[in-house]
Amino acid sequence: MQTSEHICRKAERTGRNMEPGMRSLLSDNSRYVEAFRLFLTNSTEHQCMLQFIETRLPDIVSSIGNGGSAINVLGVGSGSGEMDLKIFSKIQARYPGVPINTEIVEPSPEQLLSYKERVARTPGLADIHFTWHKKTSSEFELKVKEEKSDKKYDLIHMIQMMYYVKDAPATLAFFKSLLAPNGKLLIILVSGNSGWSTLWKKHGSRLPLNDLCLYITAGDIADILSSEGATFQSYELPSDMDITECFIDGDRNGDLLLDFLTETCDFNKNASPELREEIMRDLQSPGCSAAKDGKRIFNNNLSALVVERDEV
Ligand SMILES: C[S@@+](CC[C@H](N)C(=O)[O-])C[C@H]1O[C@@H](n2cnc3c(N)ncnc32)[C@H](O)[C@@H]1O
Repeated sequence: MQTSEHICRKAERTGRNMEPGMRSLLSDNSRYVEAFRLFLTNSTEHQCMLQFIETRLPDIVSSIGNGGSAINVLGVGSGSGEMDLKIFSKIQARYPGVPINTEIVEPSPEQLLSYKERVARTPGLADIHFTWHKKTSSEFELKVKEEKSDKKYDLIHMIQMMYYVKDAPATLAFFKSLLAPNGKLLIILVSGNSGWSTLWKKHGSRLPLNDLCLYITAGDIADILSSEGATFQSYELPSDMDITECFIDGDRNGDLLLDFLTETCDFNKNASPELREEIMRDLQSPGCSAAKDGKRIFNNNLSALVVERDEV
């Protein structure tokens, strides 16, 4: 079982042995966006989330709210809101005619703009009131504490964002404290049994680290929650990613996918031959991928954790 101290020590360790000459993919925004889009094209990332929202979310939201006059939702790291709008449609289906007040915490101005544009062109959102906060989760926490706000939320979701917080246990504790009676906190991250986890555990210390706790998985979050006695349910979201092109010399898509997998800008050029060889070999190991129909398929499994409000 991992404690918060363990997780943070792990993060400290990962910063120290990075190879010289390598820098984070996030330091080159246009290359990052290109690699991320390719990742979405080559993977079933969004499809598996949509399937979860279609099949599991209706049950999960069936008990939120207090029969009150509105449902309060908080989205943290919502990006361009694609998943958020799917989530709203499930809440609206369960509580027809009940207004939804939603607050979005998202630090990227580009993402906020895309979210607003998406809202503007999507029909059926008249009963949803949006408040946008251009903030990181910790800036939002500070604001709530400064304002001594006691606002509570029926659903809080954090989809693929916990990699970017400095202190995962404190962030979890803060957002759990914002849950209304019957409220739920939904967290989606890569699964502890995904190829990502295998790759990060073995090579995280030699890859560029953008921030503390970057290499956290849903398994780590589940350990923190268990150690605190929190009540939560875990769902596995099977997902895969075609990485065949990574093994074709000089293939641009392969280079970009490799950058995305290693979080490194131009990994093929900048990694040492030893690290490159090890990673290329490990990417083909059963802990990371499998051969299927002549292709190399990476395990991109995600986990969804649904956390209940602590008893008070
Ligand atoms: C991988 S994207 C996920 C977007 C969206 N939730 C989805 O799954 O489609 C991560 C998002 O978290 C945001 N983010 C990064 N650091 C953050 C932080 N410290 N607090 C809140 N959001 C953050 C990014 O701007 C980005 O929009």
